[in-house]
Amino acid sequence: MYTAQELTYERARARRSYKWRKFDPDVLPSHVADMDFDPAPEILAEMQGFLDRGDLGYNFFLIPEMFQAYADWQTAHHGWTPDVGRMRSFTSVLHAVEMSIWISTNPGDGVVLFTPSYHPFFDSITGGGRRIVEVPLDPNGWRIDPDRLEAAIDSTTKVILFCQPNNPTGRIFDDDELNAVAAVAERHDLIVISDEIWGDFVHEGPHRPLALADERFAGRLVTMGSASKSFNLAGLHCAVAHIGDRRVEDKLAQLPPRGLGMSTPLSFAAAITAWTRCGEWMKGIAEEVTARRDRVATRLAAEAPSVGFDAPEATYLAWLDFSRTPIADDPAGHLLERARLGIDPGISFGTQSQSFGRLNFATTEQFVDDAIDRIVSLVGD
Ligand SMILES: Cc1ncc(COP(=O)(O)O)c(C=O)c1O
Repeated sequence: MYTAQELTYERARARRSYKWRKFDPDVLPSHVADMDFDPAPEILAEMQGFLDRGDLGYNFFLIPEMFQAYADWQTAHHGWTPDVGRMRSFTSVLHAVEMSIWISTNPGDGVVLFTPSYHPFFDSITGGGRRIVEVPLDPNGWRIDPDRLEAAIDSTTKVILFCQPNNPTGRIFDDDELNAVAAVAERHDLIVISDEIWGDFVHEGPHRPLALADERFAGRLVTMGSASKSFNLAGLHCAVAHIGDRRVEDKLAQLPPRGLGMSTPLSFAAAITAWTRCGEWMKGIAEEVTARRDRVATRLAAEAPSVGFDAPEATYLAWLDFSRTPIADDPAGHLLERARLGIDPGISFGTQSQSFGRLNFATTEQFVDDAIDRIVSLVGD
């Protein structure tokens, strides 16, 4: 078994994932939110067990087991005990987000989106003919402006799509902000979809699940979780949604029984193993990733101070501001062409983010240093 510190370019490039196959071999890929660390040995052994037993038949027993594992993990780590009876499984968090929006709105209805936003959310809303009600975060600290939120809402606005902790800024919205959102949601009777996939990856915590933040969220909340970010299992495609909102629950009940599709027994088993046996592994990885975050901050401050970087409170994503550098017009394009570094272009997170880029630092120290070297080679001071 390789540890992260031993990961070599040769081994990484042998992977067939989108992360390692998107770009030419001389490009260092620092885009997309997969970690470079191998999943926990317990999870790999569990997967291997299925293969060794030739155990690839139907297995529906694992779904309730996974719901219980999710509930126990949430209780132990975040102090929230979701109701197992209100859980549904989806093939991914985006699947859960899109279905929740789709079934609870009509074409033309508005969905509030705070920007910059995790990029797939844009077409999660517009792809089904729904309308984005954009509410920009205050770029000075990426806070929610309650007045701006209130002003954006009209009678066709039905949903707030929330991301806590936030991708790409790495913020954990605080109690004042959450109370303000809860007040608006109650006043306009909005459904709140809370994507909490990053809830475990907190550097300066705690994570604040919306379910605990304000009682006005009760009865209007759908919370999504997954083991995919914390345990590096995105390719297994599995997520849990806790359906607190009766309207969403009723609409889901009207779908044909197999209309939502299903993850695989291996996916369920991986999530169960993660949430029941891999807490220590995750703690170790999170500490390592926090060290990487601090290294990005220290090196950029020393060697490329014109690059703006607010160290994220959560996530393993650096939201870099290149507006004071010569590559502000298209940072990701310049870094790719001239420094052979692949990051996510800021523009895809919102039109105001043209001069930003998102860098994934969940990797070895060597790869992080290589990424920073490539940034410094273009915009070092
Ligand atoms: C905020 C957020 N939501 C959802 C996802 C995707 O999750 P899934 O693969 O389960 O759809 C990601 C992936 O990075 C994410 O950052």
